[in-house]
Amino acid sequence: MSFLRRPLALGRPFLRAVGSSPPAGPISSASTNISAFMPEAAAFPGVRDYPSLLHLSLGQADRFWAALARDRLSWISPFHTASDCDLARGKVRWFEGGRLNVSVNCIDRHVHTSPDKVALIWERDEPGTHVKITYRHLLEMTCRVANTLKRHGVRKGDRVTIYMPASPIAVASMLACARIGAVHTVVFAGFSADALADRIRDGQSETVITTNQAVRGGRIIELKQTVDQAVRKCPSVKHVLVAKRTENEVPMSSIDIPLEEEMMKEEAVCDPVAMESEDPLFLLYTSGSTGKPKGLVHTQAGYLLYTSVTHRYVFDYHEGDVFGCVADIGWITGHSYVVYGPLCNGGTSVLFESTPVYPNPGRYWEMVERLKINQFYGAPTAIRLLFKYGDEWVKSHDRTSLKILGSVGEPINAEAWDWYYRVVGDERCPVVDTWWQTETGGICIAPRPAARDAEIVPAMAMRPFFGINPVLMDDQGKKLMDNNTSGPLCIAQAWPGMARTIHNDHDRFVNTYFKPYPNYFFTGDGAYRSEKGYYQITGRLDDVINISGHRLGTAEIEGAVNQHRVVAESAAIGCAHEIKGEASYVFIILKDGVDMSEAVIRQELKDIVSQKIAKYAAPDHIQIVKRLPKTRSGKIMRRVLRKIAESKLDELGDLTTLDDHTAVQEIVAGHRQMLKEEAEQPASRH
Ligand code: PRX
Repeated sequence: MSFLRRPLALGRPFLRAVGSSPPAGPISSASTNISAFMPEAAAFPGVRDYPSLLHLSLGQADRFWAALARDRLSWISPFHTASDCDLARGKVRWFEGGRLNVSVNCIDRHVHTSPDKVALIWERDEPGTHVKITYRHLLEMTCRVANTLKRHGVRKGDRVTIYMPASPIAVASMLACARIGAVHTVVFAGFSADALADRIRDGQSETVITTNQAVRGGRIIELKQTVDQAVRKCPSVKHVLVAKRTENEVPMSSIDIPLEEEMMKEEAVCDPVAMESEDPLFLLYTSGSTGKPKGLVHTQAGYLLYTSVTHRYVFDYHEGDVFGCVADIGWITGHSYVVYGPLCNGGTSVLFESTPVYPNPGRYWEMVERLKINQFYGAPTAIRLLFKYGDEWVKSHDRTSLKILGSVGEPINAEAWDWYYRVVGDERCPVVDTWWQTETGGICIAPRPAARDAEIVPAMAMRPFFGINPVLMDDQGKKLMDNNTSGPLCIAQAWPGMARTIHNDHDRFVNTYFKPYPNYFFTGDGAYRSEKGYYQITGRLDDVINISGHRLGTAEIEGAVNQHRVVAESAAIGCAHEIKGEASYVFIILKDGVDMSEAVIRQELKDIVSQKIAKYAAPDHIQIVKRLPKTRSGKIMRRVLRKIAESKLDELGDLTTLDDHTAVQEIVAGHRQMLKEEAEQPASRH
């Protein structure tokens, strides 16, 4: 499979592009009339279609978002100022003066109208089993967890770390924090004890919520043990609430509290706290260019509104639909499109606990058939993996419930897009390739909304969402005005869903996102804008790699590898990988006098990365070198290493600034030798 970055024209003929004049083609009045599609648009006289609403959302952003905020959210007291933003200083504030409670918006108001509607369908790891949780039940669970947290001293503003697999109790824990004004920080349950400890310490959490064990792909994972190891390094932690995912007993210490037992002692009602719009709702850690993950802070009203609106319109979600986002709750996709967006909209959201290949590669599609999923939202890495297993696993399941297919987390290559559209969606379902980030809170660029039959170019994220003003920059930091051009992707004005700061480090927030291009939010990604004005994301411009849709800083990998006693220096690089999108390739220089076999060193380095970060972060390749290619000022030439890692040896480019040319020749020879050895020992490959 090749990684086509060039959009190829497939599917329906072009009908409408951003800002284009009305099409001559046959679009029914239902699809051109924006208020039929987006009822809120009726508030804006003269707005008829997607381009004019986009225009209004940018030109009159306060008016646009204020109308949506009043319409879609339940307020305890109304806001007086729609926005107060100054991107140059990293100041972003929306809906000030307003007070609301996110859990009330996500649960209580739906309990009033339809208490027995299913809020969550928990697709358990055990094949063929699912559990439905109604809004009434979710409210009871949330209130009981909230009361348990309060009883154990958690107050408004306190951070609570949640380290749990996707499950109703995990969602109830997030919403319980929201109910009492605590700030949740969900840590993906695949992170190691060290990574968890770093995040607990950075967030200064005194309370951790976890499960005794996790179950994934038929295997038991000792989650509580990982928490125990982490907590030993975090003296701030006073309580660990332990929910039971399995019937197995695990050792409990004096700070451990059995969650369900405590919940049963509590009332099933809990008064929601009135939160200011700009109070923090959660922290979520993500990788940047340095070795230290950043705790991005999202706040209440703006985030909730943005996830709700994007969920509704990007996926064309309607009352009664079953929304199936298979992301884990430990990532922003799980926060925004498993929990907050769908629940704010009173929807039915699937919580997927398993893997795409357990018990077989038909898992997703059997689930789609059984749960009658209408919108399926997944990651390119899984699509590429399933594509390899062939069409039968898909075709043997009924997928007529599907209306929209979504993709997120990394660029989707044309072959995978085509298979998703043709085989999974039977050429019936629009594929929405959605670009966004932990920082943006919700989807920023996607093919929808637009007229129902508007063109979708394969493997392109396409159109900005309402309120999003994407711009591409040139080398001088000036806005590129033309189409058919590429450059660093920035966003020119604030929108309600964007992160507000980095926990305890506003300077880093400003320096990372607002200093590179003053007055713009810099995404860290590059993008191409086509002749027709459509966007396609080309990938990260910084030292962040994207492994199976999970962000990882090369500096984090180097930090872990450098802790091994034999390593003198290292350079981690991202290189293309057929399934994972990118994989990490680490070059290391050993300390003098090391007497260990290379195979043992490689294995130990993989282990150390798994132990310090997470298993998915373990490098695919480790090459031992004598020297690294450096400029005369001592900077490692990563561009050269990347070409070597990808075996693009005739594309090494200009080497004249290198300090010592022979280093490159040596590394190239070592790379060839390593590939030869790996090919001879397939079983040892990671
Ligand atoms: O590089 C982009 C890539 O994922 C990064 C954001 O990662 P994270 O904060 O973990 O959030 C992932 C889920 C929203 C981006 O900077 N990315 C995300 N979606 C796409 C993408 N790259 C290409 N196409 C996408 N649709």
